[in-house]
Amino acid sequence: DPNSFEYLLKQDFIFPVKVIPNEVIATTCCICCDSLQNESSYANETQKHHEQQQSWSVVFLDKCRHHFHLLCLKAMYEAGTKHGSLQCPHCKHIYGVKVGNCPAGRMVCVTIPQSLPGYEQYDTLYITYNILSGVQEPGHPNPGKKYSARGFPRCGYLPNNKKGQKVLRLLVKAWNRRLTFTIGTSVTTGESNTVVWNEIHHKTEMLNKHGHGYPDANYLDNVISELAAQGVIDDNADDD
Ligand code: APR
Ligand code: ZN
Repeated sequence: DPNSFEYLLKQDFIFPVKVIPNEVIATTCCICCDSLQNESSYANETQKHHEQQQSWSVVFLDKCRHHFHLLCLKAMYEAGTKHGSLQCPHCKHIYGVKVGNCPAGRMVCVTIPQSLPGYEQYDTLYITYNILSGVQEPGHPNPGKKYSARGFPRCGYLPNNKKGQKVLRLLVKAWNRRLTFTIGTSVTTGESNTVVWNEIHHKTEMLNKHGHGYPDANYLDNVISELAAQGVIDDNADDD
């Protein structure tokens, strides 16, 4: 079961610590804010009395070498979107493939015979997203509760040049990994339990009427960085 913590531990990026190294011993676990020399604050009574002393276990992540209580990492993983991937809560390094909790829906892209300011020699890629309201699932903020979906279909505009096409490929990847939207509170409307954009900015208008359009010479590079921060990069070997 790729959603279980046992599955996560079988990936090759979490390692148990037998003896806490000197440079780490004085640090805290950033999940529970308690010393790594103490028990995990997330340990329950059964785990505290577990003969293998699970509640004292410390693990570290392969690449960034950040240390945590095993049971803190377990609690964090189980509260998240799971799927065998993990983002270091300290430095945001992504292990495995990060998957979000965007509700099901449709993403469609067509070209339209108009150009965007700043990209006069190109026509335009027009993306639409459609998501319907529904009931929240495990991994959402309030499982079992309804969520609304306002303003759909929502759209995004990209210049139909090489870089715009690359961004489109990345946005498709992000969509397939359920990263484009999430359920939360809208900064714009204040409504909670609703579908909101999730840290991958879109140009939702051709012109800059409301500040979400073109010209914006940095937009394509900025969104490529935002996608990279979610682990979405252009890599032909990886074609999901
Ligand atoms: N177009 C593009 N991005 C927007 C817009 C917009 N009109 N409004 C806000 N954002 C960006 C914000 O800059 C922020 O980074 O979306 C992010 C999340 O903001 P929220 O207000 O929480 O998001 P949400 O409620 O999903 O969207 C607000 O975006 O597409 C429109 O119809 C949508 O009017 C709604 C607006
Ligand atoms: Zn880290």
